Amino acid sequence: MRYLLGVDLGTSATKTVLFDENCQVVASASQEYPMAQPQNGWAEQAPQDWWRAAVQTIGQVLRASGVDAGDIKGLGISGQMHGLVILDKQGQVLRPAILWCDGRTTAECEEITSLVGAERLIATTANPALPGFTASKILWVRKHEPQLYEKCAHILLPKDYVRYMLTGEYATEVSDASGMQLLDVPGRCWSDEVLQKLQIDKALLARVYESPEVTGFVTKEAAALTGLKEGTPVVGGAGDNAAAAVGTGVVEQGKAFTTLGTSGVVFAHSDKVTIDPQGRVHTFCAAVPGCWTVMSCTLAAGLSLKWFRDTFCREEMATAEGMGKDPYYLMDQQAARVPIGANRLIYLPYLMGERSPLLDSDSRGAFVGLSAIHTKYDMLRAVLEGVIYSQRQCLDILRGMGVVSSEMLACGGGGTSPLWRQMMADVYGLPVKTVVSQEGPALGVAILAGVGAGVFESVQSACQSFIKTNPAQPPIAENSARYEPYYQIYKGLYPALKDSYHALRSL
Ligand code: XUL
Repeated sequence: MRYLLGVDLGTSATKTVLFDENCQVVASASQEYPMAQPQNGWAEQAPQDWWRAAVQTIGQVLRASGVDAGDIKGLGISGQMHGLVILDKQGQVLRPAILWCDGRTTAECEEITSLVGAERLIATTANPALPGFTASKILWVRKHEPQLYEKCAHILLPKDYVRYMLTGEYATEVSDASGMQLLDVPGRCWSDEVLQKLQIDKALLARVYESPEVTGFVTKEAAALTGLKEGTPVVGGAGDNAAAAVGTGVVEQGKAFTTLGTSGVVFAHSDKVTIDPQGRVHTFCAAVPGCWTVMSCTLAAGLSLKWFRDTFCREEMATAEGMGKDPYYLMDQQAARVPIGANRLIYLPYLMGERSPLLDSDSRGAFVGLSAIHTKYDMLRAVLEGVIYSQRQCLDILRGMGVVSSEMLACGGGGTSPLWRQMMADVYGLPVKTVVSQEGPALGVAILAGVGAGVFESVQSACQSFIKTNPAQPPIAENSARYEPYYQIYKGLYPALKDSYHALRSL
């Protein structure tokens, strides 16, 4: 039997899954790490934590499965996108990585727009300058930490740092590189024009591959640390969303999914480059060679619920631990008892500022309509509903672009909650399905590894053979009608609060 390994470097944890050649899970392990917020709206992680988590989880799945490492034909890495990792000449990390949900670079985005020109930027990188993306983070470090930037010899994305540690190669691939704002997205190569206008030396960047291509081989040192066999091929892999697309079979025109992970993403596959001229949603290269994607990204979907759990649900966490259950399971049960509309309470999930569709790093979360009758469970339900309203607002944009058909797949940790999925079906007015395998991004990159290693013929054919869906959860018309007026009010709240957010930010 041949095996494939998928490593998914998320924001809350790294999860490593070993699959057999029929894409069945053989073993899996995950390890969490912290996210630092040195200032309001900033987000950083230590690349060394990612590497440690990769080493440990790879070792764990190898030991648990008893599989001979020589039978692992390929490895793929999926990763949180956009994070800036900078290394010196010796490959040493120079500072903590600045993450996708960090909003410190509004000024640098303005600088990028004026240097490149708004129209050229969209024509080339397929997106407007956004604080989440990597280019503005590079300019920030260059401006605020010039002594560090001087030492910078390599710029990598999070998963590409783990690849470097595994293979010694400085490499990336088109799906993740699309989120750096330095890639010619239609042309699938670095944009000399943008690099030259921003005065970023191309030699700092990694070589760009297509996602299923082999980018390097596990070194002797990495083999000794992980238990992998020296020489195991490591393919390009993909940004987490492009990887989830492969892992859920969203590799054909019209197919779409919503991820409720730390971020919230509504994602559609596209056979051609389709751009929102207002830049409210992103256009990136797909992990499928020759294809593209359109996707939104809200910054605090699962993060809102995690924040609520950690801040208000200590009791539930303790009870859940005693029962051997997931605290989110108990929280779902409490939220299900609250009626639709959370007793007239609306939550805005902008804890880290908001990207899609608001493009406003200064926005922040809010509970609107709070009354002395409300309990924390009303607030909990409002959090779940607010996150879904924010996804609906993004879906409406994708619908307007004609890239979404009549069905939605749900994935990410939040996609495993039947309550949240039903809310999604009701608020979207679409049947919502899940994929039988819950391994999304890890499965996606394992499939890419299978293609790179010659185990599978193509990404699409592997998806057709191995990705199976569960029966759809249809929308309940009566619920949809009850949510709709809340959604309409939700949409009006950010415009009403916008000036106050900006005033608050300037204090
Ligand atoms: C996508 C984005 C997030 C991260 C973390 O643009 O910023 O989805 O990839 O999951």
